[in-house]
Amino acid sequence: MTLMKKKAIVTGASKGIGRAIAFALAAEGVHLGLISRSADDLNKLQKELLSTYDIQVVCSAADISERHQAEAAVAAIELELGSIDILINNAGIAKFGTLLDMEPAEWERMIQVNLMGTYYMTRAVLPSLLKQKSGDILNIASTAGERGFATGSAYCASKFALLGMTEALMHEVRKSNIRVTALNPSTVNTELAVNAGLPIGDEDRMMQPEDVAQVVVSALRLPARVTLKTAGLLTTNPQ
Ligand SMILES: NC(=O)c1ccc[n+]([C@@H]2O[C@H](COP(=O)([O-])OP(=O)(O)OC[C@H]3O[C@@H](n4cnc5c(N)ncnc54)[C@H](OP(=O)(O)O)[C@@H]3O)[C@@H](O)[C@H]2O)c1
Repeated sequence: MTLMKKKAIVTGASKGIGRAIAFALAAEGVHLGLISRSADDLNKLQKELLSTYDIQVVCSAADISERHQAEAAVAAIELELGSIDILINNAGIAKFGTLLDMEPAEWERMIQVNLMGTYYMTRAVLPSLLKQKSGDILNIASTAGERGFATGSAYCASKFALLGMTEALMHEVRKSNIRVTALNPSTVNTELAVNAGLPIGDEDRMMQPEDVAQVVVSALRLPARVTLKTAGLLTTNPQ
């Protein structure tokens, strides 16, 4: 299935996995609506994309954890691009610490961005998809949404909940020809992983943002009759 001329919103597009997804979709001829908090980073990315690809790129700086900002960003993008076909819910944060060491505010922030932000974005885009009776929502969750580990209570809780929401929504909208997919990568070589103190090891053998982006494109290119429910991404030769 070709993705040419489809319209996608990518959250957390300015860095890491979101940036790689933006480039991979641009290479497929997809028009892009890009969201992250930093307008400067988005504008730089927009210039890079437009210098290489013949697509429309619209930027909307927003904190997705604020419902009104998420809704305004979607409205601004839809005004320029028209109704959206693909939503990539990628924006997320990570911080690790024991349940008692982490401040309640840090714990709440993780849920607010990773879960509530994704919910707000989905709620803002879904009416267009339902109206056109087609579309894709891809949520970047994590292997931390499949298994808990010490110091991961907040991050794991946010990603377990995200997987629950993803699966429930998949059942709600499948009959309307809308596909809802969760991708669960293990550690990926990004700022988030480095800043959160995740074990990086040998960079050459780590999963790269482009690897995740390739899976995103593959999922979107599946025949419309098939929906990928969940995909786990691990590295070969774990260190
Ligand atoms: N890296 C890993 O090891 C790994 C593994 C599994 C899953 N994941 C998941 O993959 C996703 C992307 O992670 P990454 O590693 O690419 O992270 P990253 O390099 O830190 O990039 C995160 C992106 O999200 C944006 N963002 C953060 N908070 C936001 C908010 N409240 N509103 C809007 N945008 C926001 C950031 O831009 P601004 O700061 O400008 O807002 C940035 O563009 C996350 O959901 C993460 O949980 C990552």
